[in-house]
Amino acid sequence: MLLFVISLAALVCAVAARPPLSYLENHFTAENESVEVRSAAIKRLLEVFGMDDPPAMHGHKQPPQYMLDLYNTVADVDGVTKDPYLLEGNTVRSFFDKLRSEQVEFRFNLSTVAITEKILTAELHLFKLRPQATLTFNRHHFCQVSVYQLLDTSKNNNTQDKKLLSSRLIPVHSTGWEVFTITQAVRSWMNDEGSNLGLHVVVRTLGGSHMDLKLIRFASGRDHHQSKQPMLVLFTDDGSRSTTLESIGDAEVTSDLPSAPMSGPPSRIARSLDYSEEEGASSPCQRQPLYVDFEEIGWSGWIVSPRGYNAYHCKGSCPFPLGQNMRPTNHATVQSIINALKLIKGIDTPCCVPDKLFSINLLYFDDAENVVLKQYNDMVAGSCGCH
Ligand SMILES: *[C@@H]1O[C@H](CO)[C@@H](O)[C@H](O)[C@H]1NC(C)=O
Ligand SMILES: *[C@@H]1O[C@H](CO)[C@@H](O)[C@H](O)[C@H]1NC(C)=O
Ligand SMILES: *[C@@H]1O[C@H](CO)[C@@H](O)[C@H](O)[C@H]1NC(C)=O
Repeated sequence: MLLFVISLAALVCAVAARPPLSYLENHFTAENESVEVRSAAIKRLLEVFGMDDPPAMHGHKQPPQYMLDLYNTVADVDGVTKDPYLLEGNTVRSFFDKLRSEQVEFRFNLSTVAITEKILTAELHLFKLRPQATLTFNRHHFCQVSVYQLLDTSKNNNTQDKKLLSSRLIPVHSTGWEVFTITQAVRSWMNDEGSNLGLHVVVRTLGGSHMDLKLIRFASGRDHHQSKQPMLVLFTDDGSRSTTLESIGDAEVTSDLPSAPMSGPPSRIARSLDYSEEEGASSPCQRQPLYVDFEEIGWSGWIVSPRGYNAYHCKGSCPFPLGQNMRPTNHATVQSIINALKLIKGIDTPCCVPDKLFSINLLYFDDAENVVLKQYNDMVAGSCGCH
């Protein structure tokens, strides 16, 4: 599988026309060399996914439902982006509260966010619990919930110990997730990690007096189920989004996939067929399956979804005359004519290569066991053409 990923990365006519037999020979003759090739290949693949080392996993954790829902909204079953304009940036990170205080105070460790990442939006997600039954007869119907950033009074001549970030009226009897935008605070924490003293939530009556915290309760990491833990959700962009147009949308992606294998085994069959076909007359340039199986690579421990994806590959000949179904560029058309006329020696037929690429999404645990959703561009061949 990895060998195929490598050959895909270096997809040129030579590779497409000839299977990487030398790789295979090495694989079977020099055992330790193949181990080196494998580890070098996996290292290179990690780089494609923007990592230096595979994240370390400590025990099995349940990803936040919000992140699972988000993944299912932006990606199809194969991880392919449904709508490239749904997410503003290319990364969504979730963090759990580290303070686990009895007060309504929260602190999030943002050390895994790269300094190069642009913070687009930051949200505090709090789960509001049902008011306790004995207190439900209350004259208040709404309360004012305010989120403050805690400030260091010893610094910068601060006279205030907190700064209002977001405030909203919430029905007293409601239950469920409440989301507060706290982007400015997170940006300031990114500039100065030491300034991150956390967040404080204050609940007041409409008249402005403090409200009984037994009446308005938010789930905490200490006392409530993991699925209701306070969470910080960060929408960022690492600037890796390429200029490749993916505007065609999923309608065409799906219509392009008549025989897309969704799981591992068919790829093995496809692969062995590829080799046996080599000697015969080459079929015309077309897209064929290439399943990248994260379990086979040994990454299933930290990748939540997908289990693998179909990258596809482009294979076949580009003989004269090139029909429109070969999606030739003008350049390829001229090259195939020159080749056919044999006017100049050493001019090959054009190459069968991907001419449209789609992004995929990965939902994974990072080094700090935060769940991250990240989009990677140009990972799936949407169609092939002679270029
Ligand atoms: C392969 O293994 C042998 C013996 O274990 C060692 O002498 C040799 O240096 C190894 N080759 C490589 C390329 O690591
Ligand atoms: C704090 O205020 C003092 C005087 O009020 C001033 O000399 C000092 O420069 C200020 N420090 C900062 C960091 O603004
Ligand atoms: C944040 O987490 C990193 C490791 O992920 C750790 O080294 C660092 O000390 C933590 N910072 C705080 C303030 O707890």
